[in-house]
Amino acid sequence: MVCPKFFATLPVLCASIPLLCHVLLPFLCNCDAATSFAYNGFDSDEARAEIICFQSASFQDSTLQLTETGATQASGRCLYSTPIELLAAGTRVPLSFSTQFIFYIQPSSTSDLADGISFVIAPTLGGVPNSSQGFMGIFSNETNGRSSTQTLAIEFDTYKNPEFQDKDENHIGIDVNDIVSWAVTSAAYRISSSPTIQSAEDGYAVQMKGAYIQAWIDYDATTNQLNVSISRVLGGKPTYPLMSNSSLNLSSLFNEKMYVGFTASTGPLPTVLYHVYAWSFSSDGALAANISMSSGNESNSTSRIAIIVGLLLSVLGLILVLVFLYAYFRRRRRKARYLSKKDWQVSLQEQLPQEFSYRELAKATNKFNEKNRLGSGGFGEVFQGVLPSNGVAVAVKRISKESKQGAKEFVSEVTTIGRLRHRNLVPLLGWCQEKGFVLVYELMPRGSLDKVLFNHQEKISWNQRLHILQGIAAALLYLHEECEQKIVHRDIKASNVMLDAQMNARLGDFGLARLYGHDVVPGTTNVAGTWGYMAPESFFTRKATEKTDVFSFGALALEVAMGKKMSDPSEEEGCSMIEWLWKLQRNKALQEAVELILLGEGQETSDMVRVVLELGLLCCYPDPEGRPSMRRVVQVLGGDAPPPPMPTVISSPFLFSSLALTSASQDFTSLSMRSHSDDSSSLLMGHSKNMSLSVETLKEAPNGR
Ligand SMILES: *[C@@H]1O[C@H](CO)[C@@H](O)[C@H](O)[C@H]1NC(C)=O
Ligand SMILES: *[C@@H]1O[C@H](CO)[C@@H](O)[C@H](O)[C@H]1NC(C)=O
Ligand SMILES: *[C@@H]1O[C@H](CO)[C@@H](O)[C@H](O)[C@H]1NC(C)=O
Ligand SMILES: *[C@@H]1O[C@H](CO)[C@@H](O)[C@H](O)[C@H]1NC(C)=O
Ligand SMILES: *[C@@H]1O[C@H](CO)[C@@H](O)[C@H](O)[C@H]1NC(C)=O
Ligand SMILES: *[C@@H]1O[C@H](CO)[C@@H](O)[C@H](O)[C@H]1NC(C)=O
Repeated sequence: MVCPKFFATLPVLCASIPLLCHVLLPFLCNCDAATSFAYNGFDSDEARAEIICFQSASFQDSTLQLTETGATQASGRCLYSTPIELLAAGTRVPLSFSTQFIFYIQPSSTSDLADGISFVIAPTLGGVPNSSQGFMGIFSNETNGRSSTQTLAIEFDTYKNPEFQDKDENHIGIDVNDIVSWAVTSAAYRISSSPTIQSAEDGYAVQMKGAYIQAWIDYDATTNQLNVSISRVLGGKPTYPLMSNSSLNLSSLFNEKMYVGFTASTGPLPTVLYHVYAWSFSSDGALAANISMSSGNESNSTSRIAIIVGLLLSVLGLILVLVFLYAYFRRRRRKARYLSKKDWQVSLQEQLPQEFSYRELAKATNKFNEKNRLGSGGFGEVFQGVLPSNGVAVAVKRISKESKQGAKEFVSEVTTIGRLRHRNLVPLLGWCQEKGFVLVYELMPRGSLDKVLFNHQEKISWNQRLHILQGIAAALLYLHEECEQKIVHRDIKASNVMLDAQMNARLGDFGLARLYGHDVVPGTTNVAGTWGYMAPESFFTRKATEKTDVFSFGALALEVAMGKKMSDPSEEEGCSMIEWLWKLQRNKALQEAVELILLGEGQETSDMVRVVLELGLLCCYPDPEGRPSMRRVVQVLGGDAPPPPMPTVISSPFLFSSLALTSASQDFTSLSMRSHSDDSSSLLMGHSKNMSLSVETLKEAPNGR
């Protein structure tokens, strides 16, 4: 077993010269069965050569698709074509293994039903006939319950088959030669060691249908222990396994060598699909490699380039020299690391924004032609264009001379986002200040979120909405905690979020952003921001903090979820959206709003809709201390942390202004009239002084910002 360990010391080399690792080295060190592998996508020639799909399973783009599109009563199976040694050679002592994979169960479009998917360890290559529907492609009437079947399966079952004693329609089971599971648990993300999930501290349920799910299966042969964990895909491995059973001796079940892979089946409904996006496996005692969902084309083209590079080099007989050099450099300069292909690309992209000449930008935008204009506002105008030098599509923002965005904001924008690179930020490519201030961004083909959201040109699905919110939250987490200098954006709103071609959210417009060192308390600044997105306390403290950004994010999250502008009075009782939602929440009737959003959507998203609404409300909580951090928000939206508990009483010195803020379109008199019926009216009255202060402050605030 020298080989795998030897490979592990050469990741960079193997990535650039696969021929060396996959063809030559095995000869050199004469290792037999492959013991570990990892695929982040299945569209490489390598994956297609090493995995075999049977029955109605096939390779589709970068995934393994386990049943054919449109097939009914079908089953499919994809197996790694080389058998894995799972009993120590010549003995019946089991060996440990570990695997990770990412799958997606797409239920029927008409009835939300799907059977399930399974990870399987089987004695032979090939599929099992007559294993559709509840057999999940693992067993059939002929093989089920027989010891000659020699099959271990971990089933991710999304249908309750009472005849197989299924627990519910979202469970995970360990099947030993029998579809009636040997051990079974409802699917959940486990954060405590408690055997059952009784409260949010123990974990939370994970709905496996219609979501990207990552699973981990680890078997320790010395203790007979099999652990199974799952999480939504952005989440890490849960702290505690969902299932941990330490009485599984695989000695009598297994042959010395077994095949590993996936199975799934369909029943009578034709639109059910099962995909595996990534998979790693290891049987050499180490944990399986971490995997991720990569875009297929990328890995394909890079691996092709790598093969060509590898061929050339090996033909030239440079391999040994390289190995030698590599080892030599590693020893000599431990810190100097070779850049992987990906790091290369990132570092190439990391060049700083450059100064453009006015002539170049005029040429790019056809002399700031009317036809190229994307939009205009108080700040100036935005034009689209194509840079003549390299053909990159850009959005050019020309700041008007009358704009409040003066030299200070211009410099702030160039220096703040100029240095930031994050996939959820609009990249600033450069600037020009020959004739007034001009900023050049990468063009975001889908325009700004407010247009997409409120103009109803196209319907955006709930999953897209969630994806957008996850993106903005990730951007804010990056600004608040992960980049070098803490940055408070101060102007988060739908019109400052752009959408790229893949509908990823990109936060832009850093004209108001402030930089702080991570330990510096932000000083007093002028109140700035956009009415309706501004936290109540900012009118009193005149400070922009992360918590005021969280408030704005909450307001935006509610807008995105509800598809309505924050400042629009909603039809319900003529009060603002936040008030209405808080009222529903207090009366335990938030389901009403959830149902409203779910009109025309599948019911499977209902849990997440509620989570987003509650999270949005919590971010808009009047007391800044009650708002969650962006880190928590990112975890909850990614499904990696339970939603924070909702407060039972709303109380804060800022309550009044919070309510005032949420009804931007109404005047203060009508609001305070209405407030008398509210149970917190006494609190409101106690702060009438603050009210006048907040009104004054607002007048000072620059228009619309
Ligand atoms: C599948 O089941 C049918 C009966 O339900 C049987 O006639 C057929 O032979 C089976 N196919 C195989 C390959 O066992
Ligand atoms: C499997 O066998 C049982 C009886 O042994 C029978 O009732 C059932 O219909 C069979 N199922 C299939 C799919 O052939
Ligand atoms: C299984 O989980 C338990 C509890 O967290 C842990 O102690 C053990 O090391 C795990 N075993 C494997 C094989 O991962
Ligand atoms: C499992 O069973 C085999 C054969 O009975 C035995 O050699 C092995 O020690 C057992 N493993 C454990 C961990 O009990
Ligand atoms: C493992 O599962 C078996 C079968 O359900 C059960 O009898 C046993 O108690 C379980 N062991 C542990 C440690 O959970
Ligand atoms: C996988 O990622 C986790 C963190 O998410 C890390 O702790 C672990 O070491 C990684 N495992 C491998 C094999 O790289």
